[in-house]
Amino acid sequence: MVLALLLSLSSLAVGAAIDKRVAVPAGYVALSSYPAPHGGWVPEWSESYRKAAGVVANLTLAEKTNLTAGTGIFMGRCVGNTGSALRAGIPQLCLQDGPLGVRNTDHSTAFPAGITIGATFDKDLMRRRGEAIGEEFRGKGVNVYLGPSVGPIGRKPRGGRNWEGFGSDPVLQAYGAALTVEGVQSKGVIATIKHWIANEQEMYRMYSIVQEGYSSNLDDRTLHELYAWPFAEGIRSGVGAAMIAYNAVNGSACSQNSYLINTLLKDELGFQGFVMSDWLAQISGVPSALAGLDMSMPGDIHTIPLVTGQSYWMYEYTRAVLNGSIPVDRLDDSVTRILAAWYQMGQDQNYPEPNFSTNTQDTEGDLYPGAWPESPKGVVNEFIDVQGDHAVVAKEVARDAITLLKNVNSTLPLSLDTTLKVFGTDAEKNPDGINSCADQGCNKGTLGMGWGSGSARYPYLDSPIDGLKSRGATYSFYNSDSFPSNSNPSLDDVALVFVTADSGENYLTVENDHGDRDSSKLNLWHNGDKLVKDVAAKYANVVVIVHTVGPVLLEQWIDLPSIKAVLFAHLPGQEAGDSLMQVLYGDVSPSGHLPYTVPKSEEGYPNSVSLVGFQLGQPQDTYTEGLYIDYRHFNKEGITPRYAFGHGLSYTTFSFSNATITPVTGLTSTPPARPAKGPTPSYSTEIPAASEAYWPDNFDKVWRYLYSWLDKSDADNSAAIGKSTKVYPYPPGYSNKQTPGVAAGGAQGGNPALFDVAYDISVTVKNTGSTAGKAVAQLYVQYPSGISFDTPIIQLRDFEKTKELAAGESEVLQLRVTRKDLSVWDVVSQNWIVPDVRGDYGIWIGGASDALTLKCSTSEGTCESGQASPV
Ligand SMILES: *[C@@H]1O[C@H](CO)[C@@H](O)[C@H](O)[C@H]1NC(C)=O
Ligand SMILES: *[C@@H]1O[C@H](CO)[C@@H](O)[C@H](O)[C@H]1NC(C)=O
Ligand SMILES: *[C@@H]1O[C@H](CO)[C@@H](O)[C@H](O)[C@H]1NC(C)=O
Ligand SMILES: *[C@@H]1O[C@H](CO)[C@@H](O)[C@H](O)[C@H]1NC(C)=O
Ligand SMILES: *[C@@H]1O[C@H](CO)[C@@H](O)[C@H](O)[C@H]1NC(C)=O
Ligand SMILES: *[C@@H]1O[C@H](CO)[C@@H](O)[C@H](O)[C@H]1NC(C)=O
Ligand SMILES: *[C@@H]1O[C@H](CO)[C@@H](O)[C@H](O)[C@H]1NC(C)=O
Repeated sequence: MVLALLLSLSSLAVGAAIDKRVAVPAGYVALSSYPAPHGGWVPEWSESYRKAAGVVANLTLAEKTNLTAGTGIFMGRCVGNTGSALRAGIPQLCLQDGPLGVRNTDHSTAFPAGITIGATFDKDLMRRRGEAIGEEFRGKGVNVYLGPSVGPIGRKPRGGRNWEGFGSDPVLQAYGAALTVEGVQSKGVIATIKHWIANEQEMYRMYSIVQEGYSSNLDDRTLHELYAWPFAEGIRSGVGAAMIAYNAVNGSACSQNSYLINTLLKDELGFQGFVMSDWLAQISGVPSALAGLDMSMPGDIHTIPLVTGQSYWMYEYTRAVLNGSIPVDRLDDSVTRILAAWYQMGQDQNYPEPNFSTNTQDTEGDLYPGAWPESPKGVVNEFIDVQGDHAVVAKEVARDAITLLKNVNSTLPLSLDTTLKVFGTDAEKNPDGINSCADQGCNKGTLGMGWGSGSARYPYLDSPIDGLKSRGATYSFYNSDSFPSNSNPSLDDVALVFVTADSGENYLTVENDHGDRDSSKLNLWHNGDKLVKDVAAKYANVVVIVHTVGPVLLEQWIDLPSIKAVLFAHLPGQEAGDSLMQVLYGDVSPSGHLPYTVPKSEEGYPNSVSLVGFQLGQPQDTYTEGLYIDYRHFNKEGITPRYAFGHGLSYTTFSFSNATITPVTGLTSTPPARPAKGPTPSYSTEIPAASEAYWPDNFDKVWRYLYSWLDKSDADNSAAIGKSTKVYPYPPGYSNKQTPGVAAGGAQGGNPALFDVAYDISVTVKNTGSTAGKAVAQLYVQYPSGISFDTPIIQLRDFEKTKELAAGESEVLQLRVTRKDLSVWDVVSQNWIVPDVRGDYGIWIGGASDALTLKCSTSEGTCESGQASPV
């Protein structure tokens, strides 16, 4: 595969420099924002910064630039490998995908995908899944986990990588992100929140020699209230790394958009870790450094990913410091950020080195496949088993995500003596082998995950058929996606039909879908609709099980009388079988809820969330729908979807009652003033001696490997420029003077007062049915009427899941809304403001976004059930 990639890319030449900032629709501007704020100003990180800055003060120039970039694509065991500074005890860092398990290795768990954990609406499970993932990355010797993904958020229903994140709502994404970060980092692994930002489509995302990556053009309020929201929460949880997106925002590539990185991420959101590029997303050297990028991944120049040993950074960064273009404190801040994250997670203490290779499954191989055929060889895979008992939490997630959409006449649960007829190739493993397609780039057999860098290899795949076997069910399986003529339908049979919809990352095309679902649209794959209809024509009791990356259209058959039950099992990872059996046979009641809306037709969405097609020059993707994505849009337009966001049935029923609302922190229209920035390390501004960059004598280079040293003459020439009057042509508004922070900042995640609890809400959830089950209480906020901000009718702000409640049992759940939850982003004052301090906010609680009948009122201080649902 590596070779194929090398060959396919080697025909590319270095093109003329492409225009990096092109015209965008009127009104969208990419602001200049300099300098990059120094990190270290929040108390939670000060000790790590103290240690890191102490080391940085001792490093040579070449050691420092060595730490800010990868050593090249395929130049080490991991998907990203930084240079080291061994003299100071700093090893190479191993960066690896993510997000649902350790990519491209063995003896590791293929966890349920992000969308699946999102569908559980279970905070405790989100955290425990994160801990298990963290243990596996640590066990394989990975320093940096490339997850969680909260961008895309799922603005476009056809977007290829929505399934890597947690659902089409910022608050659901935010809890998914924050709890994954906390779980992973509790094991000492640095998590990476990605992709910053507005990376909502796969096609045309990348800059190439012929075309700029698309530009997402969006306004400031939408950015704050939707897209940046989950990043803020991940940062509040102390995430150690962030990855920028391939695309541009307002015409400026995310990898060098100074406003996005310097003002928003590092200042307003108080991000203390380091910012890395997505793989080959960097398109410049000096501009990206000035714009706040801290690490280039995997190190190579984007137009020549074939390994030629060329980089925008490494030796070029060394040169740019010597010639005075990149200020020394910018480099020092980047290195300090990287090392501070390393200390913050305790990686200076007994952290394992990588013991697997992302490049091969052989024991021995090229140490640097990119240096083929000259690479030294050695042991590259130690096959360490890191699974522990993580199958337990993986199965729990897969099970508790299963979302029952329809269940007529209690068709489910099944009884074990029912005769089953099972249809659809999705019920059984891919006959070619569960890992026969690299990066899961095919949809064959049980669909446990989408494709691309967000995939993992299955250690095993417990398929639905495996599950039926181990139950001892009576079933016949027709392993085809066409309805067979020989299934002998009988009236008492229950037919199970397995259907799928897949998507993934753009570098692989699967069945004509280029990452995004551009060709299949929101339809089931493999003629799934026809299979379901054919089965429904012959069987009276049909149960449809859908493995899907996101919304699919069910309209061709959902109302047929024989379609008795429908459930979404999302993307269960390796635990697709018994998790489903536990629900089908009623060991547990289903308790998943939709993390997105299922529409009746694709026409239901705003036009602006369609995929952007090929355009000469830079494709423009303009977010004219503003805040109105997914249910926010359907509600505004009064479009009844097939199944609303948050919908999910159980085998039992629940009531929500006896709610109370208690004011905690009094609201003011603007939040209390932020705390001042704490001290940051002081860095020298003096350009180091050229000798710090000289190649060591007799160094044994690896061919094409990226090094940070310069030839003596080269270093001396650069230093001479640095001492001359020649000045780099800095971008407009450039300055290297650190500034006090913006008003909306003040801590990790923003002004800490934004997270003050404004109201505590408690609600009693009672199991009013006759069988045990878990309920989810979803809390949506309705802003006061008459405010001057156009605001979605309802917005999810919190949720909690009960334990398993026996029939008749109740549990009191505690929910909360913060100041931020009741605020809007005011573009004029550049702050979060409460639009009507004494206004009546409706705090709606229920089991789905369209089933809200319990309302608390902030002005009355009371809660009442039996209200008409606001949507
Ligand atoms: C993009 O342009 C819009 C409209 O001028 C502006 O509100 C927003 O802040 C800009 N965003 C960025 C990241 O530059
Ligand atoms: C920096 O180098 C000095 C002199 O070699 C040494 O004493 C000190 O411990 C080093 N500091 C750190 C943080 O490595
Ligand atoms: C940069 O890292 C590489 C890989 O670990 C190492 O071989 C090289 O010596 C490092 N360079 C410096 C300046 O330390
Ligand atoms: C591989 O992992 C084990 C356990 O995590 C660790 O102890 C060991 O150091 C690693 N192997 C190598 C070669 O680093
Ligand atoms: C310094 O070096 C960098 C990296 O090669 C280059 O981009 C920049 O133009 C140089 N600056 C000057 C003033 O020559
Ligand atoms: C549910 O069951 C009842 C009683 O067997 C039957 O009359 C009714 O038609 C069924 N409803 C549906 C929608 O199948
Ligand atoms: C009502 O809620 C309160 C907590 O707010 C709880 O203490 C009480 O037991 C609940 N009452 C009922 C009848 O569920």
